[in-house]
Amino acid sequence: NKQSIIAIDGHSSCGKSTVAKDLAKELGYVYIDTGAMYRSVTLFAMQNGLIQNGNTDEATLKERLGEINISFKYQPEEKKNEAFLNGVSVEDEIRSLEVSNNVSAISAIGFVRKKLVELQQEMGKEGGIVMDGRDIGTVVFPNADLKLFMTASPEIRAQRRYDELTAKGDMVEFDAILENVKQRDYLDSTREESPLIQAEDAVVLDNSQLNKEEQLEWIIKVLKDRN
Ligand code: C5P
Repeated sequence: NKQSIIAIDGHSSCGKSTVAKDLAKELGYVYIDTGAMYRSVTLFAMQNGLIQNGNTDEATLKERLGEINISFKYQPEEKKNEAFLNGVSVEDEIRSLEVSNNVSAISAIGFVRKKLVELQQEMGKEGGIVMDGRDIGTVVFPNADLKLFMTASPEIRAQRRYDELTAKGDMVEFDAILENVKQRDYLDSTREESPLIQAEDAVVLDNSQLNKEEQLEWIIKVLKDRN
């Protein structure tokens, strides 16, 4: 019985990772957060002075790409995969608004995408994974067994991210988050390299009005109906 590959793509902050985590747990699969990988490369660039006033020193980043080592380690206490950049846990840092504001520029760079897509394909090649991102069903695993495309209104998504950040004690303004959500939708959908588009064979899940249990139920039903 072959283990499936489930691809979840969609807009920023629409709860892809929550659904992906719940689904992976339900199926006994591994969850891989590809956004964390783009965020980690962004953090590396910021830490090394390769992003100044929103401009990226692409030539140097390309030269230093081999120095970037990204991995995940399962943390049983928190029941989640923690992202590591060169051996250091960056799980909290990569979620900051500063990283969020720079990540779209980094993820638009072709050589960055090439490196991360290869890593993602390697991580998922045995199946038994739920992977979320922007190009999983279109580029990383075009033959995925199930492709979901998730979306929700920008206001609802900004509110969710605001609640998440303030719960962690981050001082953030709702309007700044809403602006970031809209800006990332725009940049992610209009970039030349692997823009965010819905795969032809994807199933759309608009979760504006669904809680996480309802979303999981909905997906399990889609999976059952297919078998
Ligand atoms: O999913 P998350 O919001 O953490 O992703 C952060 C950013 O990484 C996105 O706004 C997008 O620019 C980029 N990304 C991407 N391709 C993926 C996953 C994320 O371009 N597969």
